[in-house]
Amino acid sequence: MSEENLPERHGSEGHEVEPHADPFADPGLPPHEVRRTDIDERAARRAERQVALLFTISMIATIAFIASYVAFDIDKIVFIWPFGHVSILNFALGITLGVALFCIGAGAVHWARTLMSDVEVADERHAIEASDDVRAKVISDFKQGADESAFGRRRLLRTTLIGSMALVPLSGVMLLRDLGPLPEKKLEHTGWDKATPASPIKLVSMNTDEPLKAEDIQVGSLVFAKPQGLAESAETFQESIAMDAVMLVRIAPEDIKDRASGKLGFDGILAYSKICTHVGCPISLYEQQTHHVLCPCHQSTFDLADGARVIFGPAGHPLPQLAIKTDTDGNLIATGDFNAPVGPSYWERA
Ligand code: FES
Repeated sequence: MSEENLPERHGSEGHEVEPHADPFADPGLPPHEVRRTDIDERAARRAERQVALLFTISMIATIAFIASYVAFDIDKIVFIWPFGHVSILNFALGITLGVALFCIGAGAVHWARTLMSDVEVADERHAIEASDDVRAKVISDFKQGADESAFGRRRLLRTTLIGSMALVPLSGVMLLRDLGPLPEKKLEHTGWDKATPASPIKLVSMNTDEPLKAEDIQVGSLVFAKPQGLAESAETFQESIAMDAVMLVRIAPEDIKDRASGKLGFDGILAYSKICTHVGCPISLYEQQTHHVLCPCHQSTFDLADGARVIFGPAGHPLPQLAIKTDTDGNLIATGDFNAPVGPSYWERA
């Protein structure tokens, strides 16, 4: 078909389209927009001072980080709104390091946006692969370098170099000692450990601190509890509650599948650790029809009617259970510790 006979072409809105227009033509660079700092020296100096201020704040924050590390004790717990009780050392290190890094980043971005050249340039692509000549030259240079270094001939040097390179990472491993002493048996016991049949500990509500009675726990409800006497104002509260927190559920006795677990409970009330056995997040999502609880961190799911067995997710152990009964006033009490170490698995766990 000759060009004269080609049908007339139209765009989608009926505009006539050039028959030979390239639909992928390079649109070119947009027109360059001049910034205020390009033409106004005072604005440029102001931007320079702003960038310098951010870098200066970063330096001060780094000095404060070092000072905090020296000045604060890791065990010193303070109340800081809205975070609650936190280690003053961890708080200070986090804030100062965060400010130091943020200010470097913000300063660099502000510098780039206001003072560095922003003239648009087009850089044509070139072939990435090197030519045969260049590759041959690189290989011959490499071989020549290997010969001149005598790496192949001098076995003693080669062996000692490899030995030193293999050992040097051990320095990093030794630094792991700075993570603190090994927990040894400490993680195997919680605050409930002090409970004995002769001297039981009452379960109190996490919210009201009031002793919980069996009649307070309804079928289908989930109630959070802690040992009586664990005060929120105590310096070690965070550390203790991370191990002692309990969730109570009441399941119709005929729905309890695991008999051993049912025996540790009282009249269908079961007390499990609230701390996930994956990496220790607090669990709180309860599905009362299935008796499943879900950890919000990585979705591990435990069946509370079946000894808190893991039915989904990365957790490796069932939730530890606390043996409970009632005293003469109907209060729920524990007479011993959980039946397994609470929280995540660790290397010393039996
Ligand atoms: S901490 Fe619970 S699933 Fe990871």
